[in-house]
Amino acid sequence: MDAQNTEAIVPRNLHFEFDETLPAYWHSNNPAITSYYDALSFTFPEGERFFIDSVKRYRNCGSPKLQEQIAAFITQESLHTREHLAFNRIATDHGYDLKPIDNFLKRRLGWARSRSHIKQLAATMALEHFTAILAHALLEDPAYIDQAPEPIQRLWRWHAIEEIEHKAVAFDTFMAAAKNMSPLRRWFMRSAVMVFATVLFLHTIFLGAKVLFRQDGINTPKTWLRFLNYVFVKPGMFRRVLDAYFTFYKPGFHPWHVDDRRLIAEFIPSIAA
Ligand SMILES: [Fe+2]
Ligand SMILES: [Fe+2]
Repeated sequence: MDAQNTEAIVPRNLHFEFDETLPAYWHSNNPAITSYYDALSFTFPEGERFFIDSVKRYRNCGSPKLQEQIAAFITQESLHTREHLAFNRIATDHGYDLKPIDNFLKRRLGWARSRSHIKQLAATMALEHFTAILAHALLEDPAYIDQAPEPIQRLWRWHAIEEIEHKAVAFDTFMAAAKNMSPLRRWFMRSAVMVFATVLFLHTIFLGAKVLFRQDGINTPKTWLRFLNYVFVKPGMFRRVLDAYFTFYKPGFHPWHVDDRRLIAEFIPSIAA
C-alpha cells in the first residue's frame, strides 16, 4: 500500500475537559501505571514540535498528495500538543514540579536540533514508528485504558487514531528527501537513527517516571518492579509491540504494510463528546 491510498488524515479539533476532580493516580489508583502514561505525555509537547519542524523543512520535496498529508500531519500534531499540555496540567495541579522533565527535554531536543536536517527527519520517522505501534497496541486492547476516567480515555484514543492515520507521513517525507541517496545508505541511516532513538526514547520515559516517583517519595525497587512489570510483562505494551518494532529494520519496510485502518473505524465513535 503506498501513500496514495492510505487512510485520509483528518485533524479533529477536539477539546477534553480535565477538571480538579481527577485524581493524581488516575489510572487504577496506581502510581506505577499512571506514571507510564504521564511520562509519555510529558514528552509530547516538545517532541511533537520537533516532529513538525523536522517534516516542515521538507514539505515541498514530495508529491502534491504528500504535501497535503504533511499539512494535515502538522495540524494533527499541533492539536495533540495543545491537548497534552492540558492533560499534563493534571500533574502540576496535584503539585508535581515538571521543570526537571521540561529542562531535560529542552536540552535533549536542543541537541537533536543541532544535528543535520535529514537526521532530524530520520529521528522523527523513527519516533513516529514508535507512536504508531504503541497507538495500535493501545486501541487493539481496550483494557489498557478502560480503567481511566472518561475524558482521559477519549484523549488517548483520539491521539492513537490520529497517530495511525498519519503514521507514514514522516517516512514518506524521508524517502522523498533522501531519494538521491543509495538504498543501502538510506537503510543504514534509518536503522542507525532508530537504534539511537530507541535508547533515548526509553531513557526519557524512565526519567519522566523517576521524577514522579521521587516527588512522591516512592522511588523504590518495589515501585520500579511494578512499573517494569506493567511496561514489559503484564500487560507489557512494549513486549507486545516488539515484533512490529523490528519490522522497521527490514529493507523495503513501509508503515502501511500493516493495514490497521479497522482500528480507526472501530474507535472513532468512542472519541465523540
Ligand atoms: Fe501526536
Ligand atoms: Fe505523530
